[in-house]
Amino acid sequence: MASPTAGLLTELPSFNTLTALSSGLRSANISRLFEQNENRVREFTLHAAGLTLDFSKHLLDRTSHAALVQLGSEADLQGKAAALFAGDPLNSTENRPALHTLLRATQAGAAQLEAKFEEVSAVRQSMKKWADKLYGQQHRGHSGELITDVVNIGIGGSDLGPRLVTDALKPFHGPTRCHYVANVDPHDLADTLAQLQPASTLFIICSKSFNTEETLSNALAARRWMLDGGADASELNKHFLATTTNLSAAQEFGIAPENCLPLWDWVGGRYSVWSAVGLSCAIAVGWQNFAEFLAGAEAMDHHFADAEESVNMPMTMSLLEVWYCNFLGNSNHVVLPYAQHLRLLPDFLQQLTMESNGKRVSEAGQALDYDTGPVLWGSAGTMGQHSFHQLLHQGTRYSPADFIAPLTTHLGESEQHRMLVANCFAQSRTLMVGRSALDAKKSLLERGLTEAEAARLAPHLAMPGNRPSSTITMESLTPQTLGALIALYEHRTFCSGQLWGINPFDQWGVELGKEIGREVLSQMAVTKVYDRAVLDPSTAQLLARWQESNLE
Ligand code: F6P
Repeated sequence: MASPTAGLLTELPSFNTLTALSSGLRSANISRLFEQNENRVREFTLHAAGLTLDFSKHLLDRTSHAALVQLGSEADLQGKAAALFAGDPLNSTENRPALHTLLRATQAGAAQLEAKFEEVSAVRQSMKKWADKLYGQQHRGHSGELITDVVNIGIGGSDLGPRLVTDALKPFHGPTRCHYVANVDPHDLADTLAQLQPASTLFIICSKSFNTEETLSNALAARRWMLDGGADASELNKHFLATTTNLSAAQEFGIAPENCLPLWDWVGGRYSVWSAVGLSCAIAVGWQNFAEFLAGAEAMDHHFADAEESVNMPMTMSLLEVWYCNFLGNSNHVVLPYAQHLRLLPDFLQQLTMESNGKRVSEAGQALDYDTGPVLWGSAGTMGQHSFHQLLHQGTRYSPADFIAPLTTHLGESEQHRMLVANCFAQSRTLMVGRSALDAKKSLLERGLTEAEAARLAPHLAMPGNRPSSTITMESLTPQTLGALIALYEHRTFCSGQLWGINPFDQWGVELGKEIGREVLSQMAVTKVYDRAVLDPSTAQLLARWQESNLE
């Protein structure tokens, strides 16, 4: 089946309309837009799968919103969504579908997906079996001791998703503790193992390819630790599981077939938390909660597939992303979850969005003359307020922001949680309303400063305001709303990729670094006379310094 190639953004008929509209909106005042349309909040608020998106604090009016929706329909976002769900080979450079939606589906949805759906269901059963055993602490290690700690060894998509979900669902944790090791820096594994006992620890080697150097190196070190800790080689199976597409490599490593949970090449690493890559999450929170996490994502899938462009939450967020990136000239995006349990969301979203849409050629391989994926950054509120929010409020560039706030906490209503939510709402309001130099001066005079002092300080206290943001709220952070939230960002990422005419499902840009990494590693064993074809003078000098510190 031929892949339905995405066209170029600049070739869509509404591109020029939006370019013309953007010059007016650049100088628009968001607060005034509210005055001009008393229904603005209602019109610019969407509900889906337990999430509410308020996008009224944006540099957007009815006309530009309608033109953006038109752009989405010209890019055939609804058709693209249907192609995604149907399993069309949208990952055109690897000639594969991207079927992460099937992983949380309760039915195949299309006849051609029946066989794959059966495989998914079978793997879900074996995940459930392992999750029940390990969540319920019924699995014993080599000495007969119960397994109390599970360590997921993986990196990128084999780490960030499960790490986020496990952390986000802390209030749902059972007795088994899950840990995550990703970095090839030996301190990562060593720091984790320092808290653990081999007899009561189980490792999940999580690697789609089973070929990632960082993961294999950590896996080998974990095996050594287990053997040194008293396990016999014949008993390692009590302590190692694998999640991978490469079952033969996992078996070569020494993990028995019954301990390997399969993945498929049609699941992208950064989209894989719904598969056996999420096993550690299911162990941490129990199968029922994991199933609800899948159900939350499936609810967002239904919304994405069925809702018209104008009320489609992922499409709206994607159209806003493109609006700022390609029409208002902004190239970054900040994500500010006002929930400690979502503190890892920005890290997860960095891989999801930047590995997906950090591309400079079209699907057809043509160099693009417009920007694609913005830089995504952020951290949990309110910590960011005491570090980088200064730049958000008064820096020379602005960053469109996503504020994310669960409205209740698992600890019950409290003054502290009220403060957290108040800070969230206050920050988006402050970004929008700002403060004029005149107002700043007035408040300084009220504080008793002299006219001259107030005039001198006023420019430093003035804030331009008019800085755009969305706010996503949910009743509370549960497996269900977390699943919906992650799926929301997945679909937003997909739609933006389609609007930009790029393939959001490959990641060729990371490969050269891996090759050169291997070359540099090979030169570390060579003393002083480096291969000039392999190393430039600067890298050779760095290597010489490393050798002085380590080998001499
Ligand atoms: O190097 C990037 C990458 O390929 C990611 O796309 C992926 O999530 C990560 O490495 C880990 O890959 P694997 O699961 O195959 O070990």
